[in-house]
Amino acid sequence: MTMKIQSVAIKLLLVCSIFNVSAFAREVKEFSLYVHESRAPPNPTLVVVATASGNLSDVTFGTVQVFSNLLKAGPSLNSTTIGVEPGLVSIGTENIFISYTFTLNLPKGNGTLAVQGQFALNVWPRELAVVGGTGIFRFASGYDVSEIVDDSNPSDYVTIHKIFLKFL
Ligand SMILES: *[C@@H]1O[C@H](CO)[C@@H](O)[C@H](O)[C@H]1NC(C)=O
Ligand SMILES: *[C@@H]1O[C@H](CO)[C@@H](O)[C@H](O)[C@H]1NC(C)=O
Ligand SMILES: *[C@@H]1O[C@H](CO)[C@@H](O)[C@H](O)[C@H]1NC(C)=O
Repeated sequence: MTMKIQSVAIKLLLVCSIFNVSAFAREVKEFSLYVHESRAPPNPTLVVVATASGNLSDVTFGTVQVFSNLLKAGPSLNSTTIGVEPGLVSIGTENIFISYTFTLNLPKGNGTLAVQGQFALNVWPRELAVVGGTGIFRFASGYDVSEIVDDSNPSDYVTIHKIFLKFL
């Protein structure tokens, strides 16, 4: 078993040296997208589904929110839609846990990126781990750094996400 792994590793090293590629210096791919979230009626993309007290107006420890936000190429609602972002948030005592999947339909193909982690309320930018991908993002991992672009409109709360990826 060990011998096999070693011989595979040696072959890989040989291939890497032939092509002059270091296995430890993989290229970082970077791209940006805009998340559009509506927190207001009539068509919210984020809703509170449970709270510790039972009062769905409470956003406090124990609150769970579900979202399905729109992904666009730009900051305007008129920008091209490039996908959706289903996910959920659970409010902790100090930090907030979040998990979502960028589900993208791009000209070069379709794919998903699974993102999860935690953030502190009102602290920006936020950095979360990209833990994997499918489709055109198979074998991706990296991180997602987000910032507010426009928080003035409750029915179109806009953030930019800068995504940095490496592929195995
Ligand atoms: C639910 O919570 C909201 C906000 O904290 C409060 O204004 C409202 O009175 C609460 N409703 C009930 C039925 O307790
Ligand atoms: C979107 O386009 C419509 C029609 O062209 C325009 O009236 C509206 O102001 C635009 N909205 C934004 C947010 O740019
Ligand atoms: C991407 O997905 C859409 C539907 O979500 C589909 O219509 C399209 O053919 C897909 N494109 C590729 C390149 O697979």
